[in-house]
Amino acid sequence: MGEELTDSSVDETGQSFDDNLIHDVSFEEVEHPISDGNNTGAKPRRLFDIPRSTPTEEGLARVVTVTNQKGGVGKTTSVINIATHLAMRGARILVVDCDAQGNCASGLGVDKSKTTITTRDVILTPAISIQARHATAVEGLHLIVGDHNLVGVEEALAAQLGRERRLVEALAPLRPHYDLILIDTAPSMSIVSVNALTASDGILIPVQTEYLALEGVALLMGTIQEVRRLLNSSLGVDAVMMTMHAPTLLNTQVAGHLREIFGNLVLEPPIRRNIRLAESPSQGVPIQFHAPQSHGGQDYSLLASELEALWFPGGLRT
Ligand SMILES: Nc1ncnc2c1ncn2[C@@H]1O[C@H](COP(=O)(O)OP(=O)(O)OP(=O)(O)O)[C@@H](O)[C@H]1O
Ligand SMILES: [Mg+2]
Repeated sequence: MGEELTDSSVDETGQSFDDNLIHDVSFEEVEHPISDGNNTGAKPRRLFDIPRSTPTEEGLARVVTVTNQKGGVGKTTSVINIATHLAMRGARILVVDCDAQGNCASGLGVDKSKTTITTRDVILTPAISIQARHATAVEGLHLIVGDHNLVGVEEALAAQLGRERRLVEALAPLRPHYDLILIDTAPSMSIVSVNALTASDGILIPVQTEYLALEGVALLMGTIQEVRRLLNSSLGVDAVMMTMHAPTLLNTQVAGHLREIFGNLVLEPPIRRNIRLAESPSQGVPIQFHAPQSHGGQDYSLLASELEALWFPGGLRT
């Protein structure tokens, strides 16, 4: 994608913040707006700002949350396959599953029923994080397992001070030991998702090139601005990736709009809709083990290489 993460200034509170990194984006009317016979709603009318992310602090893992409040857009599939590709390239990766559905475990060959410490425990008791990691089917890739107990966290934290910063605390002792910490999130903005954004340097946004995709992205930009204002002023967008892409007119037009809006933040290629990606979790292995030569395998491999260049501009430590 070519865009380098740029330096930011440090303000009097010691936090990175640079207004120059915020790009205004405007939408122009096109001659032939998308139409599926009705109104697809695929083209947003309002403006939104795209906060850009800043480089990782030397010697610490980059923390990246994969998020989109829209459900079923390929967040978990992307976490599993990007993490696997980078681990196979030699990066030390930790995946933190912040979704009560807990699907990262099956996708990475971890038996959830055998885990004792999960993301819920880590958020409630951050000091436990080092013991919460599990090995996976992929060498160099560790997982903190999410499970249905995450649903009750909101209530358990209700009276706690600093409840949005639990994951910051939990990841602090882990960051020197990894190159990348990738966080999978649920399709909702719960206290757990807010913890993920508060602990992150950057955000990776999977967007399905489909009906109403851009409205979901506009909603997410509003959330990011709120988190920046209140909790984590250096949070920014690392990249946008297109998922479940098919060669239809609608998919192609939505992809075009995303490229227009996000410019070189958009990763190429789009991930094609591919049955091999959908069946991989049932095999308990990522696509790189199940069907590396499938369209899904090839697309994720190319896209993860783009992310490797973005996240590790100096190359991976060997
Ligand atoms: N490129 C693809 N082609 C075909 N199927 C896909 C593709 N990407 C993901 N899927 C399948 O689509 C479904 C939704 O994907 P996934 O679980 O990754 O989305 P999600 O955004 O994490 O969902 P949720 O919001 O519920 O957490 C899954 O069954 C997955 O296997
Ligand atoms: Mg998911």
